Parts: sequence; C-alpha cells; structure tokens
Amino acid sequence: MAQLIIRQAEERDIMAIEGLEQVCFSDPWSYESLEHDILNNKLSFYIVAEVEGVVCGYVGIWNIVDEGHITNVAVSPDYRRKHIASNMLDVLIASCQEVGVERFTLEVRAGNEPAKALYAGKGFREVGVRAGYYQDNGEDAIIMWRE
Ligand SMILES: CC(C)(COP(=O)(O)OP(=O)(O)OC[C@H]1O[C@@H](n2cnc3c(N)ncnc32)[C@H](O)[C@@H]1OP(=O)(O)O)[C@@H](O)C(=O)NCCC(=O)NCCS
Repeated sequence: MAQLIIRQAEERDIMAIEGLEQVCFSDPWSYESLEHDILNNKLSFYIVAEVEGVVCGYVGIWNIVDEGHITNVAVSPDYRRKHIASNMLDVLIASCQEVGVERFTLEVRAGNEPAKALYAGKGFREVGVRAGYYQDNGEDAIIMWRE
C-alpha cells in the first residue's frame, strides 16, 4: 500500500471527515457538529489517516481527566482491511496515554461485528449494554472499556 500518514486533524480536514461520516454511518455527524468539536472543544482530539493525499479515515476522542471516550472511528470503504483503523487507534491511544489518559471507553452497535473485532484486538472488553440506545433502529449499544 502507498504510504500511510497518521496525523492530528486540522481545520482543512473537516470536510473530508464529514464525507467519511456520510459514507460510514446511518446517523452521521453534521459539518457544524464536527467543526465545533474539532475547533472549539478543548476535551476533543482527532486524528486522520491519509494515503496519497486522500483522508481515508479518522478517529475522535474526548479526554475527560484520565478517561478517554472514543466518539467515532471510521475508514472509507475502499480502504478497509488494511489496518488503517488499527494504526489510528494505536496512535490515538499512545498520544492520549502521553497526556495522562489511562482508561478508554466507547460504545458500539451490538451488530457491528467488524468494529467489535477491531476493538477486542486492541484490548477493549465488553462490560455492559445500553438497551435500545440507537434511536434510528433501536439497536443496543455495547459498552467497551480498555483498562
Ligand atoms: C470498523 C472499521 C473502522 C474498521 O476499519 P479497518 O481499517 O477496515 O480495520 P482494520 O483493517 O484496522 O482491522 C483491524 C482488525 O479489526 C478486525 N476487523 C476489521 N474489519 C473487520 C471485518 N469486516 N470483519 C471482521 N473483522 C474485522 C480484524 O480483526 C482486523 O484485523 P485483521 O485484518 O488482521 O483480521 C471500518 O469497517 C468502518 O469504518 N466501519 C464503518 C464505521 C464503523 O462502524 N465504525 C465503528 C463505530 S463504533
């Protein structure tokens, strides 16, 4: 594969991140929500993956004291199964650990087997369920933690 660059997201990446939201999620974040979170939320940290100038993945997190709440992980369909999400999570976790984040959590749709497999491979364990959490289809959310 061409060179993979993983770097902190910047203002110029917001449109590409919005595009990833549109193709990857049934309930995508809006441009305005992403813009606010990336530029104004002091707790948030976003990284993107770039291949040949194309932003093909991103990860976002809110760091609340020593806990990191991963908000979204997405990779463009054409770039999947190339360990891009895996690499982004490694960089995200290492970067957050450097500033004192010790525990990481996220919620994932119960039926999202690719994401659950990805997170399990990164040491996340299923610890609970929020029944009917997702408003679009009433799907359960699995709560995962990496201690
Ligand atoms: C989930 C997602 C981010 C994975 O991105 P990716 O870059 O393809 O994942 P990686 O290539 O880094 O995969 C790492 C590991 O995760 C697991 N995995 C990833 N995709 C998988 C799939 N479709 N089926 C089974 N396991 C999968 C595998 O264990 C894989 O390791 P392997 O390829 O050596 O077997 C991507 O499928 C995606 O964007 N999905 C839509 C958005 C989404 O659901 N995000 C998560 C929200 S909680």
